[in-house]
Amino acid sequence: MNTQNQRRDSARLIAGDHQRLEAKLHWLYEQLASATLTAAEADRGLSQTQAELEEHFTHEESGGFFRDILDLAPELNERAQVLLREHQQLRAMFHSLRQTCRWACGESGSRSGWLAELEEFHRRFDAHEHAENELMYIAVQRDLGAGD
Ligand SMILES: [Fe+2]
Repeated sequence: MNTQNQRRDSARLIAGDHQRLEAKLHWLYEQLASATLTAAEADRGLSQTQAELEEHFTHEESGGFFRDILDLAPELNERAQVLLREHQQLRAMFHSLRQTCRWACGESGSRSGWLAELEEFHRRFDAHEHAENELMYIAVQRDLGAGD
């Protein structure tokens, strides 16, 4: 098991990552909503965001984030499993957004529907990350109570 300091550093990094990704999604939405990006730029922005999301999810799945939480608070297992399943759903949703942007982002008729889907992704990602922060908070409190 990681030490208390390692777990706290890792929790801080994950929380910072959540904030950064939130800001990135907000920025991406603004860019795409104002239609200032070319199709190639839009695809590049989506591709970069997809890679960052993938890195983030993979880090949480295999970097010890859930393991540390469950070591400290095993009763959170069911909630952790829900969040892990959500990673798959969020991956699929963003992948589909990237695929459909190729034709939807440039067409004024279909753009608003596509933007609504991006907004829905952002809302779900936000709720997901808040739920993760909450589990992390419970585990950190448990950790502080337990000492090393
Ligand atoms: Fe996360």
